[in-house]
Amino acid sequence: MSGQTIALVTGANKGIGYEIAAGLGALGWQIGVGARDAERRDTAVEKLRADGIDAFGVPLDVADDESVAAAAELVADRVGGLDVLVNNAAIVGGVPQTPTTVEPATVRTVVETNVIGVIRVTNAMLPMLRASASPRIVNISSSVGSFALQTTPGIDMGQVPVAYLASKTFLNALTVQYAKELADTGILVNSGCPGYTATDLNGFQGVRTASQGAAIAIHLATLPDDGPTGGFFDDAGAVPW
Ligand SMILES: NC(=O)c1ccc[n+]([C@@H]2O[C@H](COP(=O)([O-])OP(=O)(O)OC[C@H]3O[C@@H](n4cnc5c(N)ncnc54)[C@H](OP(=O)(O)O)[C@@H]3O)[C@@H](O)[C@H]2O)c1
Repeated sequence: MSGQTIALVTGANKGIGYEIAAGLGALGWQIGVGARDAERRDTAVEKLRADGIDAFGVPLDVADDESVAAAAELVADRVGGLDVLVNNAAIVGGVPQTPTTVEPATVRTVVETNVIGVIRVTNAMLPMLRASASPRIVNISSSVGSFALQTTPGIDMGQVPVAYLASKTFLNALTVQYAKELADTGILVNSGCPGYTATDLNGFQGVRTASQGAAIAIHLATLPDDGPTGGFFDDAGAVPW
Protein backbone atom coordinates (compact mmCIF):
# COMPACT_ATOMS: atom_id res chain seq x y z
CA MET A 1 0.00 0.00 0.00
CA SER A 2 1.18 3.55 -0.69
CA GLY A 3 1.03 6.17 2.05
CA GLN A 4 -2.35 7.34 0.76
CA THR A 5 -5.35 6.41 2.89
CA ILE A 6 -7.81 4.22 1.00
CA ALA A 7 -11.54 4.21 1.66
CA LEU A 8 -14.45 2.29 0.19
CA VAL A 9 -17.91 3.85 0.36
CA THR A 10 -20.88 1.61 -0.48
CA GLY A 11 -23.77 3.21 -2.35
CA ALA A 12 -21.51 6.12 -3.29
CA ASN A 13 -23.15 7.01 -6.59
CA LYS A 14 -25.60 9.52 -5.09
CA GLY A 15 -27.01 11.14 -1.98
CA ILE A 16 -25.08 11.00 1.28
CA GLY A 17 -22.72 8.29 0.00
CA TYR A 18 -21.56 10.47 -2.87
CA GLU A 19 -20.88 13.35 -0.49
CA ILE A 20 -18.98 11.04 1.88
CA ALA A 21 -16.81 10.01 -1.09
CA ALA A 22 -16.32 13.67 -2.03
CA GLY A 23 -15.51 14.69 1.55
CA LEU A 24 -12.99 11.90 2.16
CA GLY A 25 -11.53 12.40 -1.31
CA ALA A 26 -10.98 16.08 -0.53
CA LEU A 27 -8.64 14.94 2.26
CA GLY A 28 -6.40 13.48 -0.43
CA TRP A 29 -7.61 9.93 0.14
CA GLN A 30 -8.10 7.39 -2.61
CA ILE A 31 -11.79 6.54 -2.82
CA GLY A 32 -13.45 3.37 -4.03
CA VAL A 33 -16.89 4.34 -5.28
CA GLY A 34 -19.01 1.28 -4.52
CA ALA A 35 -22.13 1.18 -6.68
CA ARG A 36 -24.20 -1.54 -8.31
CA ASP A 37 -25.19 0.24 -11.52
CA ALA A 38 -22.36 0.70 -14.04
CA GLU A 39 -23.64 3.92 -15.56
CA ARG A 40 -24.43 5.60 -12.24
CA ARG A 41 -21.06 4.46 -10.88
CA ASP A 42 -19.12 5.77 -13.90
CA THR A 43 -20.92 9.10 -13.76
CA ALA A 44 -20.11 9.52 -10.07
CA VAL A 45 -16.45 8.56 -10.56
CA GLU A 46 -16.12 11.00 -13.46
CA LYS A 47 -17.70 13.79 -11.43
CA LEU A 48 -15.42 13.15 -8.46
CA ARG A 49 -12.36 12.99 -10.71
CA ALA A 50 -13.38 16.26 -12.35
CA ASP A 51 -13.26 17.73 -8.84
CA GLY A 52 -9.70 16.48 -8.43
CA ILE A 53 -10.55 13.42 -6.34
CA ASP A 54 -8.60 10.21 -6.72
CA ALA A 55 -11.68 8.04 -7.22
CA PHE A 56 -12.09 4.61 -8.79
CA GLY A 57 -15.21 2.58 -9.45
CA VAL A 58 -15.98 -0.60 -7.53
CA PRO A 59 -18.87 -2.65 -8.96
CA LEU A 60 -20.75 -3.59 -5.81
CA ASP A 61 -24.18 -4.96 -5.02
CA VAL A 62 -24.15 -5.39 -1.24
CA ALA A 63 -27.00 -7.89 -1.48
CA ASP A 64 -24.99 -10.27 -3.67
CA ASP A 65 -22.27 -12.59 -2.33
CA GLU A 66 -20.37 -12.86 -5.60
CA SER A 67 -20.46 -9.14 -6.26
CA VAL A 68 -19.05 -8.42 -2.81
CA ALA A 69 -16.30 -11.04 -3.14
CA ALA A 70 -15.35 -9.59 -6.53
CA ALA A 71 -15.32 -6.07 -5.06
CA ALA A 72 -12.86 -7.14 -2.34
CA GLU A 73 -10.62 -8.67 -5.01
CA LEU A 74 -10.82 -5.55 -7.14
CA VAL A 75 -9.81 -3.31 -4.24
CA ALA A 76 -6.94 -5.63 -3.28
CA ASP A 77 -5.69 -5.87 -6.88
CA ARG A 78 -6.11 -2.23 -7.75
CA VAL A 79 -4.96 -0.38 -4.63
CA GLY A 80 -3.51 -3.17 -2.47
CA GLY A 81 -5.48 -2.61 0.71
CA LEU A 82 -8.18 -0.74 2.60
CA ASP A 83 -8.09 1.57 5.60
CA VAL A 84 -11.67 2.77 5.90
CA LEU A 85 -14.97 1.12 5.06
CA VAL A 86 -18.14 3.20 5.05
CA ASN A 87 -21.24 1.00 4.96
CA ASN A 88 -23.64 3.54 3.53
CA ALA A 89 -25.82 1.64 1.02
CA ALA A 90 -29.38 1.10 2.17
CA ILE A 91 -32.96 0.95 0.95
CA VAL A 92 -36.31 1.79 2.48
CA GLY A 93 -38.04 -0.99 0.58
CA GLY A 94 -41.26 0.76 -0.38
CA VAL A 95 -44.04 2.31 1.66
CA PRO A 96 -46.39 2.04 3.46
CA GLN A 97 -44.68 -0.26 5.96
CA THR A 98 -46.55 -0.54 9.22
CA PRO A 99 -46.00 -3.54 11.53
CA THR A 100 -49.48 -4.89 10.84
CA THR A 101 -49.36 -4.53 7.06
CA VAL A 102 -45.76 -4.94 5.97
CA GLU A 103 -45.10 -7.84 3.62
CA PRO A 104 -42.58 -10.38 4.96
CA ALA A 105 -40.87 -10.19 1.55
CA THR A 106 -40.31 -6.46 2.08
CA VAL A 107 -38.72 -7.09 5.45
CA ARG A 108 -36.45 -9.74 3.94
CA THR A 109 -35.34 -7.43 1.14
CA VAL A 110 -34.63 -4.55 3.50
CA VAL A 111 -32.67 -6.73 5.93
CA GLU A 112 -30.77 -8.35 3.05
CA THR A 113 -29.43 -4.96 1.96
CA ASN A 114 -29.28 -2.88 5.16
CA VAL A 115 -28.07 -5.55 7.56
CA ILE A 116 -26.78 -8.68 5.84
CA GLY A 117 -25.21 -6.45 3.19
CA VAL A 118 -23.17 -4.75 5.90
CA ILE A 119 -22.02 -8.09 7.34
CA ARG A 120 -21.21 -9.39 3.85
CA VAL A 121 -19.17 -6.33 2.84
CA THR A 122 -17.48 -5.90 6.22
CA ASN A 123 -16.34 -9.51 6.45
CA ALA A 124 -15.09 -9.49 2.86
CA MET A 125 -13.03 -6.33 3.49
CA LEU A 126 -11.84 -7.34 6.97
CA PRO A 127 -8.54 -8.98 5.97
CA MET A 128 -7.50 -5.70 4.31
CA LEU A 129 -8.74 -3.59 7.23
CA ARG A 130 -6.83 -5.78 9.71
CA ALA A 131 -3.64 -5.03 7.77
CA SER A 132 -4.19 -1.24 7.92
CA ALA A 133 -2.37 1.00 10.41
CA SER A 134 -5.51 3.00 11.33
CA PRO A 135 -8.58 1.07 10.22
CA ARG A 136 -12.10 2.41 10.64
CA ILE A 137 -15.56 1.01 9.91
CA VAL A 138 -18.43 3.48 9.73
CA ASN A 139 -21.96 2.09 9.63
CA ILE A 140 -24.47 4.64 8.39
CA SER A 141 -27.39 4.16 10.71
CA SER A 142 -30.29 6.38 11.71
CA SER A 143 -31.70 7.76 14.92
CA VAL A 144 -34.99 6.12 13.91
CA GLY A 145 -33.32 2.84 14.95
CA SER A 146 -32.79 4.09 18.50
CA PHE A 147 -34.94 2.26 21.06
CA ALA A 148 -34.32 5.12 23.49
CA LEU A 149 -35.73 7.72 21.09
CA GLN A 150 -38.56 5.43 19.93
CA THR A 151 -39.72 5.01 23.53
CA THR A 152 -39.15 8.51 24.91
CA PRO A 153 -42.49 10.21 25.57
CA GLY A 154 -42.83 13.41 23.58
CA ILE A 155 -40.53 12.34 20.72
CA ASP A 156 -42.58 11.82 17.58
CA MET A 157 -40.66 10.38 14.66
CA GLY A 158 -43.75 10.19 12.50
CA GLN A 159 -44.60 7.09 10.48
CA VAL A 160 -41.18 5.59 9.84
CA PRO A 161 -41.29 2.50 7.59
CA VAL A 162 -40.99 -0.33 10.12
CA ALA A 163 -38.67 -2.69 8.26
CA TYR A 164 -36.30 0.19 7.55
CA LEU A 165 -36.44 1.38 11.18
CA ALA A 166 -35.82 -2.11 12.56
CA SER A 167 -32.96 -2.66 10.09
CA LYS A 168 -31.15 0.30 11.66
CA THR A 169 -31.73 -1.06 15.20
CA PHE A 170 -30.31 -4.38 13.95
CA LEU A 171 -27.37 -2.52 12.37
CA ASN A 172 -26.65 -0.70 15.64
CA ALA A 173 -26.51 -4.06 17.46
CA LEU A 174 -23.98 -5.22 14.88
CA THR A 175 -21.88 -2.10 15.38
CA VAL A 176 -21.61 -2.91 19.08
CA GLN A 177 -20.81 -6.57 18.49
CA TYR A 178 -18.23 -5.92 15.77
CA ALA A 179 -16.58 -3.34 18.02
CA LYS A 180 -16.41 -5.87 20.86
CA GLU A 181 -14.99 -8.65 18.71
CA LEU A 182 -12.47 -6.33 17.06
CA ALA A 183 -11.54 -4.43 20.23
CA ASP A 184 -7.92 -5.61 20.21
CA THR A 185 -7.34 -5.00 16.50
CA GLY A 186 -7.27 -1.20 16.36
CA ILE A 187 -10.33 -1.23 14.07
CA LEU A 188 -12.74 1.40 15.34
CA VAL A 189 -16.36 0.55 14.51
CA ASN A 190 -19.11 3.14 14.95
CA SER A 191 -22.62 3.95 13.81
CA GLY A 192 -23.34 7.43 12.49
CA CYS A 193 -26.65 9.16 11.87
CA PRO A 194 -26.69 11.75 9.05
CA GLY A 195 -29.87 13.45 10.25
CA TYR A 196 -32.95 13.99 8.11
CA THR A 197 -31.37 14.65 4.74
CA ALA A 198 -32.93 15.50 1.38
CA THR A 199 -32.20 12.46 -0.82
CA ASP A 200 -33.99 9.93 -3.01
CA LEU A 201 -34.47 7.79 0.11
CA ASN A 202 -37.20 10.12 1.39
CA GLY A 203 -38.33 11.80 -1.84
CA PHE A 204 -36.10 14.77 -0.94
CA GLN A 205 -38.28 15.59 2.08
CA GLY A 206 -35.26 15.81 4.41
CA VAL A 207 -34.16 19.16 5.76
CA ARG A 208 -30.37 18.74 5.58
CA THR A 209 -28.20 18.78 2.48
CA ALA A 210 -26.41 15.57 1.47
CA SER A 211 -23.14 17.25 2.28
CA GLN A 212 -24.35 18.05 5.80
CA GLY A 213 -25.56 14.46 6.09
CA ALA A 214 -22.10 13.20 5.15
CA ALA A 215 -20.31 15.14 7.90
CA ILE A 216 -20.74 12.55 10.67
CA ALA A 217 -19.35 9.77 8.45
CA ILE A 218 -16.33 11.90 7.61
CA HIS A 219 -15.81 12.58 11.31
CA LEU A 220 -16.03 8.86 12.22
CA ALA A 221 -13.81 7.85 9.28
CA THR A 222 -11.08 10.20 10.47
CA LEU A 223 -11.14 9.43 14.21
CA PRO A 224 -7.75 9.35 15.92
CA ASP A 225 -6.40 5.94 16.97
CA ASP A 226 -7.61 6.53 20.54
CA GLY A 227 -11.07 7.53 19.33
CA PRO A 228 -14.30 5.81 20.39
CA THR A 229 -15.46 2.43 19.15
CA GLY A 230 -18.84 0.73 19.49
CA GLY A 231 -20.65 4.07 19.67
CA PHE A 232 -23.55 5.81 17.93
CA PHE A 233 -23.07 9.44 16.97
CA ASP A 234 -24.52 12.34 15.05
CA ASP A 235 -23.20 15.87 14.56
CA ALA A 236 -24.30 16.80 18.09
CA GLY A 237 -22.46 13.90 19.78
CA ALA A 238 -23.61 10.55 21.17
CA VAL A 239 -27.06 9.32 20.12
CA PRO A 240 -28.86 7.27 22.80
CA TRP A 241 -29.29 3.59 21.83
N1 LIG B 1 -31.69 10.58 3.91
C1 LIG B 1 -31.91 10.57 5.22
O1 LIG B 1 -32.68 11.38 5.78
C2 LIG B 1 -31.21 9.55 6.07
C3 LIG B 1 -31.38 9.63 7.46
C4 LIG B 1 -30.74 8.71 8.26
C5 LIG B 1 -29.95 7.74 7.69
N2 LIG B 1 -29.80 7.68 6.33
C6 LIG B 1 -28.94 6.63 5.78
O2 LIG B 1 -27.96 7.23 4.94
C7 LIG B 1 -27.53 6.26 3.97
C8 LIG B 1 -27.56 6.87 2.58
O3 LIG B 1 -28.89 7.16 2.26
P1 LIG B 1 -29.33 8.34 1.28
O4 LIG B 1 -30.30 9.15 2.02
O5 LIG B 1 -28.14 8.97 0.67
O6 LIG B 1 -30.17 7.49 0.21
P2 LIG B 1 -30.09 7.34 -1.37
O7 LIG B 1 -29.85 8.66 -2.03
O8 LIG B 1 -31.29 6.56 -1.73
O9 LIG B 1 -28.78 6.47 -1.59
C9 LIG B 1 -28.74 5.11 -1.23
C10 LIG B 1 -27.54 4.49 -1.91
O10 LIG B 1 -27.49 3.10 -1.58
C11 LIG B 1 -27.33 2.38 -2.79
N3 LIG B 1 -27.80 1.02 -2.69
C12 LIG B 1 -29.04 0.56 -2.34
N4 LIG B 1 -29.07 -0.78 -2.42
C13 LIG B 1 -27.84 -1.18 -2.80
C14 LIG B 1 -27.24 -2.44 -3.06
N5 LIG B 1 -27.92 -3.59 -2.94
N6 LIG B 1 -25.94 -2.48 -3.41
C15 LIG B 1 -25.23 -1.34 -3.56
N7 LIG B 1 -25.73 -0.11 -3.35
C16 LIG B 1 -27.03 -0.05 -2.99
C17 LIG B 1 -28.08 3.19 -3.83
O11 LIG B 1 -27.68 2.81 -5.13
P3 LIG B 1 -28.70 2.90 -6.41
O12 LIG B 1 -28.55 4.27 -6.97
O13 LIG B 1 -28.17 1.82 -7.31
O14 LIG B 1 -30.08 2.61 -5.89
C18 LIG B 1 -27.60 4.59 -3.45
O15 LIG B 1 -26.31 4.81 -3.94
C19 LIG B 1 -28.43 5.06 4.15
O16 LIG B 1 -27.80 4.10 4.97
C20 LIG B 1 -29.64 5.64 4.88
O17 LIG B 1 -30.34 4.66 5.62
C21 LIG B 1 -30.41 8.56 5.51
